[in-house]
Formats: sequence, structure tokens, C-alpha cells
Amino acid sequence: MTIPHTEVGPVRVPHHWLRMVVIWAVLSAVAIPLIVLVLGPHLPPGRMTSEAGSQRDANTLMTALLAPIVVSVLVFFVYSIVVFREHGTAIVDGPPLRGHVPMQTAWVLFTSIIVVALAAWGSYTLIVSSHGSGGGQGPDPVAVPSHRSHDLVVQVIGQQWSWTYRFPAYNGVETDHLELPNNSPIEFHVTSLDVTHSFWAYQLGVKADAVPGVDNVAFVHTRDPGNFTIRCAELCGLWHGHMFQTGNVVSAAAFKSWVGSEQKAEAPNLRYLPRYGRSYFPVPFRRAG
Ligand code: CUA
Repeated sequence: MTIPHTEVGPVRVPHHWLRMVVIWAVLSAVAIPLIVLVLGPHLPPGRMTSEAGSQRDANTLMTALLAPIVVSVLVFFVYSIVVFREHGTAIVDGPPLRGHVPMQTAWVLFTSIIVVALAAWGSYTLIVSSHGSGGGQGPDPVAVPSHRSHDLVVQVIGQQWSWTYRFPAYNGVETDHLELPNNSPIEFHVTSLDVTHSFWAYQLGVKADAVPGVDNVAFVHTRDPGNFTIRCAELCGLWHGHMFQTGNVVSAAAFKSWVGSEQKAEAPNLRYLPRYGRSYFPVPFRRAG
């Protein structure tokens, strides 16, 4: 007996390709401006600092780059379902798909170019455009902003289970709340007194590990007044989730008056604090109780 066989029909490949490419081009031309102009201004983490703004730009660029790829997959998928579907009652497999060398080569080349170009662009914005990085760069940062000498230094100290802040320019005062002046270059020095925490100030575009004995430096330039959330982004024990605070970016004058009142209020405690240093090694047993 003969094996049942259905004729797929003369598939004129260039004709289908042309249609799919046209549909793909039209949908991509619609999707990309929508992503850049409509979705972009809502992408995280906002524009409270220059570094946060750069992260939003990167998110917008990568989402826009993704659009033609997603559209190509969807167009091919939907087009195949609609046009190449088997008509009739008998369910018969189509001809098996084997490798398609030009397509595979194009795919590998295209995606490699995207990845390498993104790495080059990221390195350029980090090092050459030189405004520092909201990510912790360790004690000896490579990408240093040109304005570094004017930076307001803020030391961020993580401990189980809270954040405190020291301001060496203001007599090393330590506070349990963070306010920052607007339109100012800030230099965070993040460290820990016990285990590894991670200082994550979302709207500032800052995430830097807080490691005992290490001075981890991150830079931001504040651009917008408002509130920002601070979380610990490294599992650090039972009350990890308690390491949550709200900080504020305020006017330079409001910052001056805040830090002045903190200096006054914290003055009696200052003599119990160690001298300001890049990191601290407290006696472990005293902390453990
Ligand atoms: Cu500190 Cu998690």
C-alpha cells in the first residue's frame, strides 16, 4: 500500500519572505517610536540622578532593540499558523525542518553584533563620558567623575539590621536617616559592620555591596528633589526585610539646615563613635551579645 501523502502545494518562498518582511518592517516602525516616546518615560529607575537617567536610557535603548526581534518571531509564528496551516481532515506532518545555514549564520552574527555593540556603548558611557557609576566600584574606582573633588562624601554603614550614614565634612556626624542636597555630586562610601549587605537606593540608581572591612565607592549626581527608597539587596539574616528606609533629595539650603540640626542632636553620641574611617572592625562578641 502507499503512504498517504498530501501535497503542500508550490510554496513560492520569496513571495512569503517579502510579505513577512513588509509586515515586520511596518510593525517594528510602529513599535519602536511607541517604546521610546510612550513607554520610555515610565521605565525604571527614573531621573532623580544623572546615573538613574543613564540607566533609564539604557533600559529604553535595550527595549527598543528588542522590539524588532520580538516582532520578527511573532510575525513568523502568526504568519506560519495562518498561511502554512494544513487544510483538510487528515492530520499529516509537514516536511521535516533541518538546519538552514544562512538563517543560522545571520542570527548568530546579528545577535553577536547587538551584544558586542551594547558592551562597547556601556563601557563608553561608563569610562569615557566619565560621570561615575551608581554601581559600587570597590575601594579604588576606575570610572571617576571629573568633579570628584567637589563631591559630598556620605558613608553608608550597614549592620544587622539597619542603615546609618556618616558625613565626614560635618564632623563625622552619624545619622539614621539620609538626606541629600539637590544638584550635587555625591560620593557614597558603603561598608558594613557585620555581614554582607547591599545598599540599594532605587530612584538614585545606586546599588553597592556593603562588605565588612571594605570601602565600596559609588557616585551619583542628584538632579531632582523627592523621596527615594532604600533597601537591603543581600540576604543578611532574620530582619533583612527590615532594612528599609525612605531618603530625601532636598534643596541645598534644606540639606544644610537638616545636617546642622543632626549635628546638634547627635553631638552627645559623637564621643562614643570611632573616628571616621574607610571601614570599621568592631569587636565581634560585643555586637553578638
Ligand atoms: Cu542587610 Cu539584607
